[in-house]
Amino acid sequence: MRPAIPFRHFGIDGDVSRLGHLMREAWGLIRFVPESPATVLNLACGRADETGALFEALAPVPVGYYLGIDLLPGDIAEASQRWRPSSSETRIDFRTGDASITHRMKQLPGFDLVFIRHQNFWHDGPQWDRLLENALNCLKPGGVLAFTSYFDREHALALASLKMVGAEVLLNMRHAASRPLADAPGKSVDRHLAIVSRSS
Ligand SMILES: C[S@@+](CC[C@H](N)C(=O)[O-])C[C@H]1O[C@@H](n2cnc3c(N)ncnc32)[C@H](O)[C@@H]1O
Repeated sequence: MRPAIPFRHFGIDGDVSRLGHLMREAWGLIRFVPESPATVLNLACGRADETGALFEALAPVPVGYYLGIDLLPGDIAEASQRWRPSSSETRIDFRTGDASITHRMKQLPGFDLVFIRHQNFWHDGPQWDRLLENALNCLKPGGVLAFTSYFDREHALALASLKMVGAEVLLNMRHAASRPLADAPGKSVDRHLAIVSRSS
């Protein structure tokens, strides 16, 4: 799926393409095949730049429903402009809202994939504890929660939080092609990827 408007910053194209390759590799390693058509929930999605890469990484399984949620109305408006379904079989929805209260969103279906890119545990630990636990509870049986982190320690904290609520770690990998960022030491784009499921 091609973006309907260009990405906001130079370099995003390459970052999301590398993320797509990483996701494909990860699905192979854990033998993840979602139900068809797949349901995908992208939490704290921001501008959801990775939407096209996620669709491609799941192919040939088509995405039937894709929902992105973030607190920032400006980012949600931009994501809605950029990502339009290329088939009438696909519904794409971006909503402004609090992704830590998905347990109160009674209309949500179960999801094959819950995705969180560049999780922000350091911003507010207790809120992210809730967000991650509720994210796990959004999964269908057989579904997975995948998240990326830009810092080593923040990644370890999010993973520990999920383990505390009984998540099973299916994969935890360092992204070898992650692009270093100059704004903070030890920070790089999608530096780590973890995939967890609800324990059986
Ligand atoms: C580091 S940014 C990552 C954004 C996007 N996933 C990306 O990779 O570009 C963290 C995002 O989390 C969002 N966020 C933080 N707490 C949230 C919450 N409770 N509900 C929804 N979004 C939240 C912020 O608005 C921000 O867009």
